[in-house]
Amino acid sequence: MVRFVLNGKEIQIDTPPDRRVVDLLREDLGLTGTKEGCGAGECGACTILVDGESRLSCLMLAAQLEGRSLTSIEGLSQGTGAGLHPLQEAFVECGAVQCGFCSPGMVLAAVPLLEKNPDPTRLEIRKGMSGNLCRCTGYVKIVDAVAAAARKMKNQPEKTAAEDSAP
Ligand code: FES
Ligand code: FES
Repeated sequence: MVRFVLNGKEIQIDTPPDRRVVDLLREDLGLTGTKEGCGAGECGACTILVDGESRLSCLMLAAQLEGRSLTSIEGLSQGTGAGLHPLQEAFVECGAVQCGFCSPGMVLAAVPLLEKNPDPTRLEIRKGMSGNLCRCTGYVKIVDAVAAAARKMKNQPEKTAAEDSAP
């Protein structure tokens, strides 16, 4: 039995302590927004938030959730009122979602990045998201989206090229 908070709601679930969290979410709890790519900690597709920090759910076991708070992509917009989180909106608006397989992990990796650094340069975004791989976009639109979300969340105008020249 493991007890934890899932997307704002306390739950307890009967599960082997060594069940991978990605399987617990997708197969036992029906939360298929979390994706499994490599299953080996290399691609970031399975990223979730645990106590506000991004974690790889393919490398995490159910027992490690005890007493903690997990946010999956399904729960991200909670607390923002209605609708999508600003990062989700920015991904859509900037065309940063193509096949979409990497997108939940990308968005959840960007949440703590912007919490720690609300005004990142493009280089800081690239470094902060370097554990998340995308086969489709070439990353430019993903960086655009995170930068746009940062502005949206701070209500800032766009940086000039001189202020921010990284690709
Ligand atoms: S599926 Fe977890 S890092 Fe790739
Ligand atoms: S949009 Fe397809 S893997 Fe990133």
